[in-house]
Amino acid sequence: MQKPDFNIEEVNKIIRGRRSMFAAQFKENDPIDDSIIEEMLENARWAPTHKLTQPWRFIVYTGEGLKKFADYQADMYKLRAEKNGTPFLEATYEKFKQQPLKASHMIAIILKRSAGIPLMEEIAAVSMAVQNMYLTASAHGLAAYWGTGGPTFWQEAREDFGLEGEDALMGFFYVAKPASDTWPEGKRDSMDEKVAWIRE
Ligand SMILES: Cc1cc2nc3c(=O)[nH]c(=O)nc-3n(C[C@H](O)[C@H](O)[C@H](O)COP(=O)(O)O)c2cc1C
Repeated sequence: MQKPDFNIEEVNKIIRGRRSMFAAQFKENDPIDDSIIEEMLENARWAPTHKLTQPWRFIVYTGEGLKKFADYQADMYKLRAEKNGTPFLEATYEKFKQQPLKASHMIAIILKRSAGIPLMEEIAAVSMAVQNMYLTASAHGLAAYWGTGGPTFWQEAREDFGLEGEDALMGFFYVAKPASDTWPEGKRDSMDEKVAWIRE
C-alpha cells in the first residue's frame, strides 16, 4: 500500500478543536442521518487494539429506541432506590426519563473481554475507539459527549447489556445537531508539568 497523503494541519485542527457538547446544547427533534453514525462506527473500528482483540461493542439507540432506554434507566433508578435504598430524587428520575430524548442518537459503549491481555489494555482500546467517534462527530460539527451516568456502573444493568465476567459498560456516547453555531472553548493545563523528557 502506498503511504497515505495525510494532512497534519487538518489532523491538529480536529484533535485540538474536538469538543464535548451536552444535552442542554443539543438541537432537539432534528435527527442526524444514520450514515453519519455509521461513519463514526466505521472510524471506531480502526482504533488500535493489542492482539487485535477489538473489544468494542456498541448498541445504537435512536427514535423510539431512545425512549426505550430513557424509560429503562428511569425505572431502574427507581427500583434501585426501592430495593437497595440508594437515594431517590424526583428530579433525577425525570432527568433519566427526559434527557436521552434530546439526543439524535445514543451509543452504549461496551467492553467485551478477551482472555490473555490485561483489562487495562482493553479499556484503552475501547477508549481509543470512542475518541475516533468523538473526532468524527466534531469534524461534522455535531454536538457529542461521552457520559458515564445512569446504568454505567449499576450491577443490575449488567445482564441487560449482555455483560459477563470482566465485560464492562463504559458509558454512553450522545450525539445531536448543536442548537447554536457557537463552539465551546477548550480548557487544558499546560503540558509543562505533565511531561518529562529524558535525553541522557
Ligand atoms: C471516560 C470519560 C467519561 C466522561 N463522563 C462524563 C460524564 O459522565 N458527564 C459529563 O458531563 N461529561 C463526561 N465526560 C466528558 C468530559 O466532561 C469532557 O471531555 C471534558 O469536560 C473536557 O471537555 P472537552 O471534551 O470539550 O475537551 C467524560 C469524558 C470521558 C473521557
